[in-house]
Amino acid sequence: MNAKRILITGGAGFIGSHVVRLFVNKYPDTEIVNLDALTYAGNLENLSDVENKPNYKFEKGDITDEPYINDLFDRYDFDGVIHLAAESHVDRSITDPLSFIKTNIVGTVNLLNAARNKWKDNGENKLFYHISTDEVYGSLGETGFFTEQTPYDPRSPYSASKASSDHLVRAYYHTYKLPVVISNCSNNYGPNQFPEKLIPLVINNIKNMKPIPVYGKGENVRDWLYVVDHARAIDMIFNEGKKGETYNIGGNNEWRNIDLIKVMCSILDKKLGREPGMSESLITFVKDRAGHDLRYAIDSGKLMSELGWKPSLQFEEGIEKTIDWYLENEKWMKNVIDGTYESYYKKQYVDR
Ligand code: NAD
Ligand code: TYD
Repeated sequence: MNAKRILITGGAGFIGSHVVRLFVNKYPDTEIVNLDALTYAGNLENLSDVENKPNYKFEKGDITDEPYINDLFDRYDFDGVIHLAAESHVDRSITDPLSFIKTNIVGTVNLLNAARNKWKDNGENKLFYHISTDEVYGSLGETGFFTEQTPYDPRSPYSASKASSDHLVRAYYHTYKLPVVISNCSNNYGPNQFPEKLIPLVINNIKNMKPIPVYGKGENVRDWLYVVDHARAIDMIFNEGKKGETYNIGGNNEWRNIDLIKVMCSILDKKLGREPGMSESLITFVKDRAGHDLRYAIDSGKLMSELGWKPSLQFEEGIEKTIDWYLENEKWMKNVIDGTYESYYKKQYVDR
């Protein structure tokens, strides 16, 4: 790691907080600046274990605010950017597409412009790393995998906004020679995920004996990767990835939603001392998501063969760990659900 100072955007969110933790602990001589607007998805409690480390700095700010972003790049001399800040939930993108356009597209362009302006004379050792999703490739049928060559075919406002930002990042590489790299990852799971996403939502509902909403018939397939393994891949790509390249990251771990939910029901029955089948009785089939992509599956062959990455956890172990984390961190979940987490910033950074 040669970088002296790295900007990580969206570091208070689910994946971002795992990336910040990894970098702050692994690279004590590198200053890690976490820029986050603290939207509903940003939760600084995710980072309470690293917030007092000398190489960590938090900046509250919005990537859609162009003057603010330019000023941030003037105040810090960043060697690298790892860009995760985004609106990330497909269902929200269906009800409010514009906020996805603003953050995911306009926000990304503000960062690209700031990096381009600052790095125009000394770009060789800099890197703009854009974090994206496999959803840009569209929806697979029963067979096949997304590779880095799969044509883009986004089908939700979320995936269309991410696809657009990916195209812009590549355009800055070709047009302005901005040093960039992109990765597209499959569905992540693990600690600190906002409980609007499937896995934490299911855990929380089972625990509280609430109905488990299954969209359509539960036949949609997702490829699940443990979030810490995504953070490890990001570290590898940031340090060893080739400029201008794209890397796919996936778990090689496909589950139909209904099968995944049943496995979680059975694990939770045991952990909560319930009769077998009790949690499954909460499964409730509800109206399908509009335009619901059938199947995502990633071929991570390039990342594995070129950079030597592989997931460290098998799914059985990862899902147990994840369930244990949510059961042991009741307060985190309670604070998220009742909104208490939103006062954390004020307590930690304003009032003291
Ligand atoms: P998240 O919703 O948990 O976190 C997003 C973070 O970005 C939050 O902390 C939020 O406050 C911040 N943010 C949102 N708008 C902002 C703005 N305008 N300015 C500054 N900060 C802002 O998301 P996540 O699941 O951690 O995803 C992180 C990134 O990884 C996203 O770019 C997403 O597209 C990508 N990704 C996610 C997954 C997944 O399964 N969750 C898979 C592949 C790729
Ligand atoms: P989600 O976690 O929202 O991730 P994504 O849509 O980005 O893949 O959803 C994962 C899958 O679970 C997806 O097929 C939609 C489905 N789903 C449900 O069946 N019920 C729910 O309550 C949620 C949130 C998702």
